[in-house]
Amino acid sequence: MSIEGFRGTELKAPITQAISVAWKSPSNIALVKYWGKKGRQLPVNPSLSMSLGVAFTETRVTAKPRLHSGPLALEFIFEGLPNPAFGERISGFLLEMEQIFPFLKEVDLLIETSNTFPHSSGIASSASAFSALALCLCELEEEFSGTPVPDFYKLASYVARLGSGSAGRSVYGGFTLWGKTDALQGSDDEYAVPLNVHPKFQELRDAIILVNKGKKKVSSSGGHKRMESHPFAAARIQQAVQNIQNLLNALSSGDIDTFIKITENEALTLHALMMTSDPGFILMDPETVRIINRIVELRDEYAIPMCFTLDAGPNIHLLYFEKDREQVQQLIVEDLLKKDKQNWIDDAFGTGPERILFTHQD
Ligand code: DP6
Repeated sequence: MSIEGFRGTELKAPITQAISVAWKSPSNIALVKYWGKKGRQLPVNPSLSMSLGVAFTETRVTAKPRLHSGPLALEFIFEGLPNPAFGERISGFLLEMEQIFPFLKEVDLLIETSNTFPHSSGIASSASAFSALALCLCELEEEFSGTPVPDFYKLASYVARLGSGSAGRSVYGGFTLWGKTDALQGSDDEYAVPLNVHPKFQELRDAIILVNKGKKKVSSSGGHKRMESHPFAAARIQQAVQNIQNLLNALSSGDIDTFIKITENEALTLHALMMTSDPGFILMDPETVRIINRIVELRDEYAIPMCFTLDAGPNIHLLYFEKDREQVQQLIVEDLLKKDKQNWIDDAFGTGPERILFTHQD
């Protein structure tokens, strides 16, 4: 089935009853970064990420019969409170989704959502938020049509990607690749695909070190936009294609040294691209630079296989393996963190989204 042409069932009878569905879906950390887009939310280069196990969004969507002739009325509740700013982004997205899910023309929606990671931790939540919402929409399609959606997760990834590019990678657990590349058969710009990796990499952990919990100075969308006229864009795309190829090989053979080299190269490249765009911007804090230098020193000093990566912000993801957990966590608290020793999230390789009974309402 071509996902691009997927269209849900036109309802034969009016909807008479409200239906609720709920999913939790993880955040993910990109190892090869998506940076720059084209067309309708398509990536300029392939990207590869690991889904997390602790940082999740939980979302419940209740579809109620629409009893008026106006457009879809949306009530969007984030952590127990209305959130008009994010609600507006979701409303625009839902309008676009009517092409895929005709039932959306017959309902009003209540969306209740909450994150398992702390409010304003500076962790991007659009990946987990849009993947949880996409999974709910796919399940509602099944409920209203009375038939299973073929390629459920493929469709969920496609829909999530239209909301936020990186969200397309969060509908699967483990390692996921998004974007067409000759290095992987079945890869596609429209949706992400799950990857098989060497069992070593299922033991990866991610300590998210919260350097700065404030709002980012430049949004991801602003950064993607600046890649359109970036003087290094062509070289960057070539580099990402090569990094994907090498990382796929490393992930399947269990080559940790190459994994570390590519992951850090991608993190520094992402921030270098920000600094060299027009206008340039810096999302690392001085503390970010101090800690990443220290991670490299500690890796050499203790011979622990670990590395850093960054998303589009000042926080650091310290990747390491389960067998070194005790030693690394001690180093985080006793060496890396200078002030608040609680300022990190203990996350790890995650197994992916799940259907849930939604409980968190505030
Ligand atoms: C640096 O997916 O947040 O985290 O598609 O505009 O919503 P939109 O962007 P978004 O960009 C993520 C950028 C990144 C790298 C990555 O996750 O691959």
